[in-house]
Amino acid sequence: MAEVILKKVEKEYPNGFKAVHGIDLEIKDGEFMVFVGPSGCSKSTTLRMIAGLEDITGGEIWIGDKCVNEVPPKDRGIAMVFQNYALYPHMTVYDNMAFGLKFQKTPKDEIDKRVRDAAEKLEITDLLDRKPKEMSGGQRQRVAVGRAIVRKPEVFLFDEPLSNLDAKLRVSMRVRINQLHQQLKAEGQPATMIYVTHDQVEAMTMGDRICVLKFGRIMQVDTPLNLYNKPANKFVASFIGAPAMNIAPGELVSENGKVVVKVSGQTLILPEEKAKKVKDYVGKKIWFGIRPEHVRSAETHPSENENYVNGSVTVVEQMGNEEFVYFNVGEEQYISRLNPEKISRIALGKDYKFWFDLNKCHIFDFETEENISL
Ligand SMILES: Nc1ncnc2c1ncn2[C@@H]1O[C@H](COP(=O)(O)OP(=O)(O)OP(=O)(O)O)[C@@H](O)[C@H]1O
Ligand SMILES: [Mg+2]
Repeated sequence: MAEVILKKVEKEYPNGFKAVHGIDLEIKDGEFMVFVGPSGCSKSTTLRMIAGLEDITGGEIWIGDKCVNEVPPKDRGIAMVFQNYALYPHMTVYDNMAFGLKFQKTPKDEIDKRVRDAAEKLEITDLLDRKPKEMSGGQRQRVAVGRAIVRKPEVFLFDEPLSNLDAKLRVSMRVRINQLHQQLKAEGQPATMIYVTHDQVEAMTMGDRICVLKFGRIMQVDTPLNLYNKPANKFVASFIGAPAMNIAPGELVSENGKVVVKVSGQTLILPEEKAKKVKDYVGKKIWFGIRPEHVRSAETHPSENENYVNGSVTVVEQMGNEEFVYFNVGEEQYISRLNPEKISRIALGKDYKFWFDLNKCHIFDFETEENISL
């Protein structure tokens, strides 16, 4: 059993900077948890505290059924993979992978078995005699992962392990790490994995759950789809999803028995179900949010008779399978994500009629930025 539990964990660096403000988090045995957030939000600090590479200045960290606050890194049953691989340059791949085990005085034939098993899993068997400088970045990264696997840790910690790789390699390594997690589970040796990234696509595709951090505080912990569809606050809403959710300041008003959003000079009518949820906010300032895919072309929604918005188109980004249309409404810039086949008449500098699907919008408290429309 290797669940990882953080209880009110705090970190104040010796210079007085408070990097982590009382984090509570339960990572289940065998779970793949991703830490995501902008640069400086303390992802690495938190991971390093779990690893024991950084002291904690408040709270408790539990791995399995043991509080590990005072346990040195080597006795925590963890293995860590870093961004820069940290391989020994003068050693072969085989020796790099075997090093930690030799150090622990593991019998030679056991070491050999583990190294070859891991190499096979990662398809690096034919590289075992090479030195790190004779390999590509992706191959080195696989060796770094292999070195972690051979130790059979209960918990794997990854700190942005793919950020030195080019885009295509990142995708294939991402899939491989996912497969490794599945494979270990299938072999009856499930490993808890904690994976740090600032790449929200990696977070969405790898995590069983994602923990979104901001300035050393947890903003939300949930499954990828829940974070996307039910962001708890404006920060998560704007951080998860690319292109990002459109968010603009507005006001809720009651008009003709309906609740409407006044935003960017427009009057958008809330469907009854949403209106019910936010009725206490009528007369107040709010943040209005809508994802680019819910800003549609009016051409494809000609039957609706409300929530059309004329926007002045400034940029059209062709992605091949879809296009991102940037347009201005009043003071604000919005993005619409459209299916290109359906669009015939979008021209730069011209007005175009969009339809806002208010069934899918989000409303956030103006002060606390909590989502009040869930
Ligand atoms: N040794 C240190 N002394 C003081 N402050 C530090 C120290 N190490 C990190 N910090 C600060 O703690 C905060 C969190 O740093 P951390 O490296 O954990 O962020 P991160 O989320 O991993 O960012 P990145 O995505 O850039 O790697 C930052 O503001 C950083 O400047
Ligand atoms: Mg970091």
